Formats: sequence, structure tokens, C-alpha cells
Amino acid sequence: MVTEYHIPVLLNTAVSYLINPVIQKHILVDGTLGGGSYSRLICGSISDDSKLICIDKDIHAIEFTTKVLAEYKNKILIRQGNFADVKQISTDAGFDSITGIVLDLGLSSYQLNEESGFSFMKNTVLDMRADKDSELDAKTILNEYRENELTDIFENYGEVAKAGRLSKAIIEHRYKSKFETTDDFIKVIQREYDFKKDMPVKFLSKIFQALRIAVNDELNDLKKVLESSFEIIADGGRIVVISYHSLEDRIVKNFFRDNSVKKSEGKKALKILTKKVIMPSYEEVKMNSKSRSAKLRAAEAVLA
Ligand SMILES: C[S@@+](CC[C@H](N)C(=O)[O-])C[C@H]1O[C@@H](n2cnc3c(N)ncnc32)[C@H](O)[C@@H]1O
Repeated sequence: MVTEYHIPVLLNTAVSYLINPVIQKHILVDGTLGGGSYSRLICGSISDDSKLICIDKDIHAIEFTTKVLAEYKNKILIRQGNFADVKQISTDAGFDSITGIVLDLGLSSYQLNEESGFSFMKNTVLDMRADKDSELDAKTILNEYRENELTDIFENYGEVAKAGRLSKAIIEHRYKSKFETTDDFIKVIQREYDFKKDMPVKFLSKIFQALRIAVNDELNDLKKVLESSFEIIADGGRIVVISYHSLEDRIVKNFFRDNSVKKSEGKKALKILTKKVIMPSYEEVKMNSKSRSAKLRAAEAVLA
């Protein structure tokens, strides 16, 4: 289903990998609820006695989906929280194990278009927090981080060439005034790289994405959710991840590979279901250009 909130990426593929047809009664988790399109399709595909736990950090996603998924209120439990806490959230909901989890990482279109700081296309406060209760926002990073910490962010998360040049320019700006808005930041980039009217969109996207990853601690949360999901996943349960950044994809790929060998007899392991990473079709990318960097990987838990 296409909502104004977010156009889902690889929707049918993700949900068909998530639901193991051999299992009758599911306890599934949608760790990145967003506009609820994944959750809607999942609810329509599972038995009436199955349950779906829906998690999102962002209060807007929670409010929006509580309304649009009301018809499934007997099957779903919607929780505002961090997917890194999936074990605690599931236990609190009364479930010690789950039969699958899907993570569609990154940002929803709503966050990009309506919330502060995520987009370089309009002038807003440099916030970038998916969870507005968390302490760290983008302007704090730009105003307070040391030069080497800034370089690490742009180099590691944005693969920005000669990232030290950008961090130097940020520090120089701070002597004159504080960063408050996206325009303050863009002007510094524009001046440093001598961009005239047309700003290189790809370059700006990388810089903004790097800052967003740091603000929301996205890579650490991904590592934590994979570990916790593996702990609570039942035999035959599936882990499905759609990522949009090469570092995220590497974390998923390595996690699946490292856990695909049984450490000892009777222990759980992962059977990799996607020998090759799955990407959206040409038609999907044509219809939704934001899907172009998506990569899907799936694995199934097996007991000895
Ligand atoms: C790409 S959207 C998901 C779209 C969704 N699949 C749909 O069908 O509409 C990603 C969502 O994940 C949420 N998110 C990102 N990191 C999170 C985390 N660590 N914990 C919980 N939610 C997170 C974001 O707030 C956003 O709403």
C-alpha cells in the first residue's frame, strides 16, 4: 500500500521473506514501523491468533499508524521505542521469543519532508533526531564536536573525500557564529568547496546522511538489534533487513555470515536465505527513485 507518509520499498519481497509459511502462529516484529505499509501487509498475511509488535522511535510514525492500522488492533501492539531494545519490548509485551523481525532502515519520506534538519532542500533547524526525546541533535555535533571527531563522521559514515577540509571549515565558522539551521551548514559547505548556484546533490546527501547516522547512533543500534533478535528468534524464525548504506549492509552481511556456522551442537545458527543480496527492480526504482540504494538480506534461524 502506498501512503503519503512513505512509499514502501521492496514491500512484497520483504514480507514474503519474513513470514515462514511452515509456522502457523506467528509473533513477528516490524522494528521500523514508519507509515505502516509493511505492518499492514504482514497483518493481512498472518493468522488471526498471530501477533505483530510494531516499533518506531518517532512519535509521528506511532500517531499516524495508530490511526491507519486501527482495523488490525486485535493483532498489533504498537510501541514507541528503539529497535535495539527489541528483547525488552517483546518481553514486556508478553513474548519471550519471536518468529521473525523485519527492519527497513533509514528515514521515512515524512521525516525527510516534514521534520527538522533531515533535508538540505529546505531551511530548518539542524535537529535530525528520529526520537525527539534523545539528547544529541545535529547542531550540537556541529557546534561542539572536536575537529577529529567531525572528520571521523564525514569520512567513515559519508565516505567524504578529504573530510578534514570540511571539519576545518566547520570549526572556523564556529569562531564567528553557532550553527542553528540547515542553511548555516550549507553556506559553509558552499563557501569551502566554492559551489556556485547548483549544489551537487550527491555530495550534500552523503554529508547529511553521515551527520544523521551520528545523531541517531544508527550503526550501533543495528548491531544491537541483530544480536538481540538472534537471541530471541525461534526455530524457523526469520531476520530480514533492508539497508540503504554500504556500512549497514556490511554489518548485516557479516552478522549473518558469522552466525551461519553452529558454534556447538544444539546451538542456534542462521541459514542465509539470500545468497545474493536482493535489490529493487528497474520498474520499482523508476517509480520510486529513493529505493535505488536498497539492499535486502534475509536469514532463518535453525537449531541443530
Ligand atoms: C524507511 S522507514 C520505514 C518505512 C516502513 N517500512 C513503511 O512501510 O512505511 C524507517 C523508520 O524506522 C524508524 N527507525 C529508524 N531507526 C530506528 C530505531 N533504532 N528504532 C526504532 N525505529 C527506528 C524511523 O523513525 C522510520 O520511521
